Amino acid sequence: MSSKITAPRGTQDLIPPDSARWQELEARIHALAQRFGYGEIRTPLFEATELFVRGVGETTDIVEKEMYTFTDKGGRSMTLRPEWTAPVMRAMLEHSLLAQGPQRLYYIGPIFRYERPQQGRYRQSHQFGVECTGYEAPEADAEVMSVAWELVQSYGLRDAALKVNSIGDDVCRPRYREALLAHFRPNIALLSSDAQRRIERNPLRLLDSKEERDAPYVASAPRIEEFLCDACREHFAALRADLDLLGIAYTIDPRIVRGLDYYTRTVFEIQSSALGAQNAVCGGGRYDGLVRSLGGPDTPAVGFALGIERFLTMVETAGATPARKRDGVQAIALGAQARATLLPVAAEIRRLGVPAFMDYEERKLLAHLKIADRNGARFALIIGSEELTAGQAVLRDLTSRTDRRLALEEPRVLAAAVVEAQAV
Ligand code: HAM
Repeated sequence: MSSKITAPRGTQDLIPPDSARWQELEARIHALAQRFGYGEIRTPLFEATELFVRGVGETTDIVEKEMYTFTDKGGRSMTLRPEWTAPVMRAMLEHSLLAQGPQRLYYIGPIFRYERPQQGRYRQSHQFGVECTGYEAPEADAEVMSVAWELVQSYGLRDAALKVNSIGDDVCRPRYREALLAHFRPNIALLSSDAQRRIERNPLRLLDSKEERDAPYVASAPRIEEFLCDACREHFAALRADLDLLGIAYTIDPRIVRGLDYYTRTVFEIQSSALGAQNAVCGGGRYDGLVRSLGGPDTPAVGFALGIERFLTMVETAGATPARKRDGVQAIALGAQARATLLPVAAEIRRLGVPAFMDYEERKLLAHLKIADRNGARFALIIGSEELTAGQAVLRDLTSRTDRRLALEEPRVLAAAVVEAQAV
């Protein structure tokens, strides 16, 4: 016997009833993004590898070790999208959108990262994100944060915390980098191997180390706020004022540094204790230099991405999953003749916009009613030989367990009567 083929490690199948929770979330996301004036963008699942090397940064974990890269039959190096921001900027340049003034785009779809799979960390996961280009003003930073925050609020997720920070820009960050190096270098031998690896390439990343041995050195590290240049300091102060105006609660967390290279000034995460070690459900920030590094014009931009899997874990932990409402009609035919009578009625019910389900096997009424339960039907429309003789159908309300009789008319008329009855 040949061995069973399973889904690749770190990937998941999405099947009912879970897929309904995804659909519900996606519907809310589309409506939310529209309320903020964001239009949807979809980009290819794979891109030229160079896009991520240049966009995300050569020394990031993503580019160093997590990309799904392959050579296509034409000998070109391609990579499955590990994040959306670089592809979205690539597409905006390609379609000359940036020349048309500020742009607001959002996306929902898979990303691929070759990570060690664990709770909340997958090799294929899904993100909802927004990118807002063309505004240097901190109101844009506050706007994208409020998009994410609204979604969190709409599910009533109380254990979510918004953490913001500024990591400065090309003017002030180099000085902070030097200060961090001076702080960590003397203790390098005592730091974790990850920290040792990162220190020369990107000492800021040491600040988000989760290793216990790094903790005392991280705690005593110099803080960015003392190094911000005037422009960055003012931008950050104005952002905080905007968040206050919008009534969005946040804390300043100097340890939020983010793992992608393109960030400037504002960075933020939404974290939740419900998520365990992978506690960030959403991460983002400003990336004023990315478009230029991709060969485009200087373009201020800010955005975020939110992990759909992690978000739904939070929803589940909070018990915030909306109860499934009974909906639709189970057409139950007992016998071949009844089946022939009901088949077109079910079709008409669907045409009228109401779900109709039908089982085609010979079964007892009780077995059919079990199937109706499984389908979440609100009504059962039942016809057996007795009903055929009497020229009637039974419409059973499966919530109240009450029956009423409808005249067995031609399919359109009976379907209309059923739809009318279930509308009340
Ligand atoms: P990121 O922090 O790499 O940022 O990812 C954002 C979110 O995606 C994370 O907070 C997490 O919820 C989810 N996520 C990422 N990787 C995984 C994974 N392997 N398994 C499960 N969930 C995952 C970015 O991707 C940036 N492009 C965000 C951004 C947009 N910045 C500006 N605009």
